[in-house]
Amino acid sequence: MTASVSIIVPTYREALNIPELVRRISEAMTPTGHKFDLWLMDDPSGDGIERVVKELRLPWVNLVTRTPPRGLGYAVLEGLRSAPGDILVVMDADLSHPPERIPALVDAALQPENHLVIGSRYVSGATIDGGWSLLRHMNSRGATWMARLFTWVNDPMSGFLAMRRDILSRAVGELDPVGYKIGLELIVKCRCGKVAEVPIHFSDRALGKSKMGLREQLQYIVHVRRLARWKYGELARFGEFGIVGASGLVVNLATLTLVNDAMLRMGFTAQSARLNTAVTIAVFVSMSTNFLLNRMLTFGDKARGHLGRKYLTFVGVCLVGGVVNWWATTRLALRWHEITLGLQAAAVCGVFAGMLFNYIGSRIFVFRTIR
Ligand code: GDD
Ligand code: MN
Repeated sequence: MTASVSIIVPTYREALNIPELVRRISEAMTPTGHKFDLWLMDDPSGDGIERVVKELRLPWVNLVTRTPPRGLGYAVLEGLRSAPGDILVVMDADLSHPPERIPALVDAALQPENHLVIGSRYVSGATIDGGWSLLRHMNSRGATWMARLFTWVNDPMSGFLAMRRDILSRAVGELDPVGYKIGLELIVKCRCGKVAEVPIHFSDRALGKSKMGLREQLQYIVHVRRLARWKYGELARFGEFGIVGASGLVVNLATLTLVNDAMLRMGFTAQSARLNTAVTIAVFVSMSTNFLLNRMLTFGDKARGHLGRKYLTFVGVCLVGGVVNWWATTRLALRWHEITLGLQAAAVCGVFAGMLFNYIGSRIFVFRTIR
């Protein structure tokens, strides 16, 4: 079966890599009989890419000079939307992704059961050029691990992809360009249940420099958060509330230790007065950091309104939540007193009950939808 294939390549300062990229794509695709075209989605690079493309004189090679906003995600999305092919392929310009594997990706994408095909670095048969720093490995693995919220694909971070246009059409209006890990964005929003992974050899970039830096990595966290909200809605919000709560535990323990030590050094030897003071301060400090973080993150979209009044309501909700925690823990501990670790299990349930109460209370009384 022959198809029409559009290959979309985001470029920024890649002029030097274009001739070899084009030559290898042509050599790989011509024997397949597929009709194919190339879309270089260039953010004005000022590196003479226009001249390079012109000199190739190939009608199937198209250069799109973009207008802002600049960015890899925007460039790929614009290409996906405007390219004419029935099969859409996305790959990097720097020859990290071997053009020789495009036919294999296309074949897999033509199988009706595959929603998305990934050129994968992490399946058997795949290889990676050596010379990756420990940091790059950790980054790649860490990012993959976070993607497990959405998919068990081995290499969800890959930028080498193929899909049929009808799958893209499922979500084309919902794709968010800040989602610069475009593969993950497509898996989630196009609801790609079946993702095929084709092994590739991932080379070090041929020429030029990588554009991925700290900014892109931080953006990835923002991206994961957005996808979680998109896919899991209220449950994702509750998850964030839980993460903030865990940070509050750390703040609480640190404050408790600091205050207790300081008081000891200042000569407060009466134990019960010292502990009461230290615990009270620790509770209020962690409650306050929790409030601020929840206002910024968990309920960032509902942060408007009087800060002081919101804070006091939050403290009120937490106090009641504390009572719920205490009540549930003591009740369960009595019931489970003969079981090993019964007390600890009761405490975990108590914390969870208190947290659920705090969440619902915060949602209804503190960070309201209507105001
Ligand atoms: N139009 C446009 N605008 N293209 C860009 C921009 C931009 O702002 N930034 C980067 N690109 C293009 C590059 O020219 C290249 O073709 C491709 O996007 C990938 O950029 P690199 O700078 O080579 O990124 P990388 O090698 O660090 O990351 C690649 O591999 C990762 C997996 O390790 C990308 O494919 C990532 O998506 C992938 O996760
Ligand atoms: Mn690269």
